[in-house]
Amino acid sequence: MSVLKAITTDQPPLPEAGSASNVTGETALTLWQQIKEDWQAHGRDWTKPGFRAIAVYRFGVWRMQKPKLLRAPLSLLYKSLYRKMRNGYGIDLPYTVKLGRRVVIEHQNGIIIHGYSEIGDDSIIRQGVTLGNRYLDRPFDAPKLGARVNVGAGAKILGKVTLGDGASVGANAVVLNDIPAGQTAVGIPAKILKPKDTAD
Ligand SMILES: CC(C)(COP(=O)(O)OP(=O)(O)OC[C@H]1O[C@@H](n2cnc3c(N)ncnc32)[C@H](O)[C@@H]1OP(=O)(O)O)[C@@H](O)C(=O)NCCC(=O)NCCS
Repeated sequence: MSVLKAITTDQPPLPEAGSASNVTGETALTLWQQIKEDWQAHGRDWTKPGFRAIAVYRFGVWRMQKPKLLRAPLSLLYKSLYRKMRNGYGIDLPYTVKLGRRVVIEHQNGIIIHGYSEIGDDSIIRQGVTLGNRYLDRPFDAPKLGARVNVGAGAKILGKVTLGDGASVGANAVVLNDIPAGQTAVGIPAKILKPKDTAD
């Protein structure tokens, strides 16, 4: 089946923004409280592109909870800001991503997050990171990162893989398989490092 056909005929409904257990939709925090938390996580520096991109994302999720009439102008504003983040900072973070609290985007450029991805609380994403589908004919497969996942610069995490809580990904790794909680994977394709005390 062609990708186009898959998209037009088999596209699953868009994930409900913010519906996973570790994402903003289930927090009682207001939009401003979420943004304040993100600002603190980004070293209280409102000029950081990562903070700005996440603030736009939060706004994009928040406006979906508004009645349709009010949502229409908010959506116009959101789409314009989303494009500014993508085209200006090179951070592509659609509102359909399930993003946890206090996630940090360090630096900017070449950061592509698939719209069906999940990123847990307190995770770190760095410059040059892609969370994307692995195969053209499986366009909706996307990675799922637990809480406190640390993704090194330039890493690519592809397909329907799961990274457990506290997992780490080395810089420039290409992750094609799951990484259990607390483990580190490096290289292309990424291999899990032996724990230091048992390593040969
Ligand atoms: C993977 C990482 C988290 C270190 O994890 P660690 O468990 O402390 O691993 P170590 O440093 O003990 O290295 C273990 C082995 O992995 C190798 N290794 C470490 N990082 C690697 C990487 N990114 N790619 C390939 N191999 C790597 C080391 O050379 C070492 O190999 P050896 O056992 O053959 O000597 C770190 O190297 C890394 O890549 N961090 C990303 C940081 C980043 O993106 N910084 C950019 C800031 S702007």
